[in-house]
Amino acid sequence: WLDKGDPGGMHRTYDRWPEIAEESYSEEYGQAESGGVSDVVFAGMGGSGAIGDVLYSMLSKTGIHVSVVKGYVLPRTAGPGTLVVSTSISGNTRETLTVIEAAREAGCQTACFCSGGEMLEYCTRHKMPHWVVPMHHSPRTSFPSFLYAMLSVLGGVIPVDEKDVRDSISDMRELRSRISPEREDNPALELARWIKGMPVIYYPWGLQAAAVRFKNSLQENAKCHVIAEDVIEACHNGIVSWEGGGNAQPILIEGADDYYKTKERWAILRGFFESRGIGYREVRSVKGGVLSKIINLVYLLDYASIYLAVLRGVEPSPVPAIDYIKRHL
Ligand code: F6R
Repeated sequence: WLDKGDPGGMHRTYDRWPEIAEESYSEEYGQAESGGVSDVVFAGMGGSGAIGDVLYSMLSKTGIHVSVVKGYVLPRTAGPGTLVVSTSISGNTRETLTVIEAAREAGCQTACFCSGGEMLEYCTRHKMPHWVVPMHHSPRTSFPSFLYAMLSVLGGVIPVDEKDVRDSISDMRELRSRISPEREDNPALELARWIKGMPVIYYPWGLQAAAVRFKNSLQENAKCHVIAEDVIEACHNGIVSWEGGGNAQPILIEGADDYYKTKERWAILRGFFESRGIGYREVRSVKGGVLSKIINLVYLLDYASIYLAVLRGVEPSPVPAIDYIKRHL
């Protein structure tokens, strides 16, 4: 049924994610070199930006100052001590190309990742360090080939926990056997079947990367409106929206070892929904390293977005609205 609902074959690439991640991590890409980095900027949009979010989460637990740019503007503080890591899977994204140019002009250290396109031409012309990584199906579906290539290339410059990388791949393999379309007790399919209205995703600070990726995947694959909010901040604004009725449905993405104050907030929030008769779903991360926790959620939730697309009768692969905007830039 998935082949019929997804004629573009996106799910077939998802099915190979663990192998793609493994190959990409062990591929001889060579390592990035750096001359003393005081801060790191990850630049990229959409599917490429989602990879920056994951790397940001990994680095935010270290002493390195890190920021994410999803747009045209490099922070004004960026200079020779800044490593600007830019990703554009197609290599043709205007915003990211603008950041690369700004980084070169500001004398930043750079590492660029793309599958070709203008980024490859620009980096070749200006002799900037770059890595060409294969695109699998589409930019957003190329998440593992780019993420794991970047972890391998950047391993000498930023701290990468080797065990966490290996665990994240073996966890993905284990998860695949539970979320494949043949299984009836499939948690991704069950979540997709439950979604009838507009998903409102709540997430703890450490899992923003997974939640935002889920939002993006629901939008790009299932073509639906979605909101994603930090659970603590949402208690000061977004939570009031539930007083207004409507067809929204809360999804709580909880971390296996959330900060105790966040755990307390989940409990209060569950009580709030129950007191108002609002049904909700909880998705919990596995225990483990930062990367393993995020990857496990991304794999499960991306699958849910494809299932939702097919259940709704929309094709997950094409994104004509994004194509329209890009044509007009
Ligand atoms: C489409 C997709 C988009 C792109 C975004 C940026 O599959 O995932 O979100 O990732 O439009 O394009 P790239 O990644 O080529 O720079």
